[in-house]
Amino acid sequence: MSNSDQISIDDIINYLKAEREVYGPFSVSKRDFDRPDQTAETATIQEDEKTEVQPEAETKPLTLSDRLAACSTLDELKQLCSTADELRTDLKNTNLVFGVGNPNADLMLIGEAPGEQEDKQGEPFVGAAGQLLNKILAAINFSRDDIYIANILKHRPPGNRNPTDEECKRSMPFLKRQIELVKPKIILCLGKISGQTMLNSDGTLKSMRGKFHSFKDYELTVTYHPAALLRNQQWKRPTWEDVQMVRKRYDELGGKP
Ligand code: URA
Repeated sequence: MSNSDQISIDDIINYLKAEREVYGPFSVSKRDFDRPDQTAETATIQEDEKTEVQPEAETKPLTLSDRLAACSTLDELKQLCSTADELRTDLKNTNLVFGVGNPNADLMLIGEAPGEQEDKQGEPFVGAAGQLLNKILAAINFSRDDIYIANILKHRPPGNRNPTDEECKRSMPFLKRQIELVKPKIILCLGKISGQTMLNSDGTLKSMRGKFHSFKDYELTVTYHPAALLRNQQWKRPTWEDVQMVRKRYDELGGKP
């Protein structure tokens, strides 16, 4: 074979240069062979356009205040309360005592904590103190259906002991949301613990009763607990004065008749 018949390295280089001028540079990757439907050109473009794969955005667990704010009805809040460990006392297997009455009531009563009967029936103030409460309400022309009743605690404490500060603290965010959903004009606290917890005070019952305080947008007052009245006849008169004051203010504020 003569020298002129041989294709030299220089010939090949010159040929490739000329081809590059006409068609531009290109490269062939292994993927182009794996996917024969793609041309080298489209493969290169797709490679360039490939966006970086982002790590999946971390979803933060909802906080208690998020979950409370998401409740737009009392039924939704009750559902949340039914699984809330924050509301439990150290007495095992108690039932939720959420609250009862008119969901749009202008008067809301807040007791301390459920007792044995309330735990059994899942409703506040159904025992002996509840019977007396019904009579007090009737004396100022309210039935239980007109008002809304809840407690600071939604589960019974063991041995009917007073709620601890820590239990009250854990329960308050739930009760606050419950109050926001009912939107009463007046809140009546039954007993010292209820008044102290709502007013964040260590005042005596005597110092808290007989006047209205502010709790957020609501007017709030405190009177004797019906269970205490059953044991202390002398507190019936001041209780009578307190509930008369509540009825008068309720009417002045245009509470539902
Ligand atoms: N005492 C309370 O404070 N609440 C009840 O529900 C019953 C008794």
